[in-house]
Amino acid sequence: MSNGKIAACVGLGVGAVLIIQGGDPLDSAGNGSPIWRDTGLLGAPARAVVCIIAGVSLLAMGWLYRLLFCPLERSKALEDVGYIAEDGRSRAQAANEVRRRRKTGELPPVYPNGWYRVLDSHLLERGEVKNVSVLGEQVAVFRGQDGKAYVVDAYCPHLGANLAVGGRVVGSCIECPFHGWQFRGDDGKCVRIPYAEKVPEFARVRCWPSCEVNGHVLVWFHCDGEDPQWKVPEQQEITKGEWVYRGRTEHFVNAHIQEIPENAADIAHLNHLHTPGIVSGVDLRYTNSKIWEFVRHDWKVQWEPESEPNKHCSQMLVKHSLTVFGHHWSLLDVHVVARQVGPGVVFLLFDHSFLGRGVIMHCVTPVEPLLQCVSHTIFYQSNIPPLVPKFILSAECVQFERDVMIWNNKKYISKPLLVKEDSAIQKHRRWFSQFYSENSPRLRYQHDTLDF
Ligand code: FES
Ligand SMILES: [Fe+2]
Repeated sequence: MSNGKIAACVGLGVGAVLIIQGGDPLDSAGNGSPIWRDTGLLGAPARAVVCIIAGVSLLAMGWLYRLLFCPLERSKALEDVGYIAEDGRSRAQAANEVRRRRKTGELPPVYPNGWYRVLDSHLLERGEVKNVSVLGEQVAVFRGQDGKAYVVDAYCPHLGANLAVGGRVVGSCIECPFHGWQFRGDDGKCVRIPYAEKVPEFARVRCWPSCEVNGHVLVWFHCDGEDPQWKVPEQQEITKGEWVYRGRTEHFVNAHIQEIPENAADIAHLNHLHTPGIVSGVDLRYTNSKIWEFVRHDWKVQWEPESEPNKHCSQMLVKHSLTVFGHHWSLLDVHVVARQVGPGVVFLLFDHSFLGRGVIMHCVTPVEPLLQCVSHTIFYQSNIPPLVPKFILSAECVQFERDVMIWNNKKYISKPLLVKEDSAIQKHRRWFSQFYSENSPRLRYQHDTLDF
């Protein structure tokens, strides 16, 4: 039950007790409890009003407390954002229909080589195991008694039980729920078969290289099984506790993974899609409404790849300014450096003289070939009121959901019709192609269907 509901229940409960204490509501002689006599609220309707006011006040206090002090947590299902439900259809029906009928275009490989977030660290207690869908696979993510997070294939190589469904963590191993085989988290080797004399040398489950950085558990994927080619950098301010967790959002996007980071180099879309003020919402049919025209965002953006030894990184420099009724609010000018590390992780660094410093960690993980799980997690200076980073994350979320509406309905165009001013897009595609290799998995799909 949420804090707000608890507060309301407590308020109404206390009120109910007071009514009962007050004795017979029909007792017009006023023999009730002194508390009601003293306040002159002897009638049952008056007491009911007091109870309701108490409940509503507690509800409001709970809401205010959450707003001011609790982290922002916002998780959206696939059909929640970016689909238009018309003609009496539900959003889920609309989403399914768009996904089924959409043309995909000639797609690049669907799983680039790189690091991907699988889980937030705080969701994995010591001795706990979770089943996660990632890169078209099922993996078991578990935290050993040594505190380390491990990622292995979920299906046991013995007879295929899911290690994450009823499996038990034993030391730094995971024990299968079916026959009790135990696999080491470090390398996947089977170390115990409870009923066998000998454990065969070849008995092992596939183990994914993993790391834990700034509250995220990440796995390394390479289509040829090569070892990690770079490290995910740690944001030292988070490790030292100077920047603290202030919230997260999660969305599912129906697009090819490459389309999401490509937006960083698509400079022209910012001053079109993201210009209307966040107050005008996320539904692109209404964002250009005249009512909200007095608030405008202005963007100046530059995107560049980094050079060796960080050629797997790129940087987007963003200068944002806000105009209200034509007046430029320079106090709210925000400069952001968005540093992308490989295909699945971006650090958006805020440094503002008035609003303080912090980072949004933006992670894109392919769940299936055309389904991406995107999380935004904000860490911010601990001495800045939580409301500030929560507002920044909410604003980012609104702008992001506008992109989601585009991605969910668009087609990937392998040979786009570009003008000179779009040149960074081609540059981005060349940069991103380093994450594909010859054996990178491709989506095989049918060009023609019988749908009409
Ligand atoms: S299926 Fe896992 S031990 Fe048998
Ligand atoms: Fe965008």
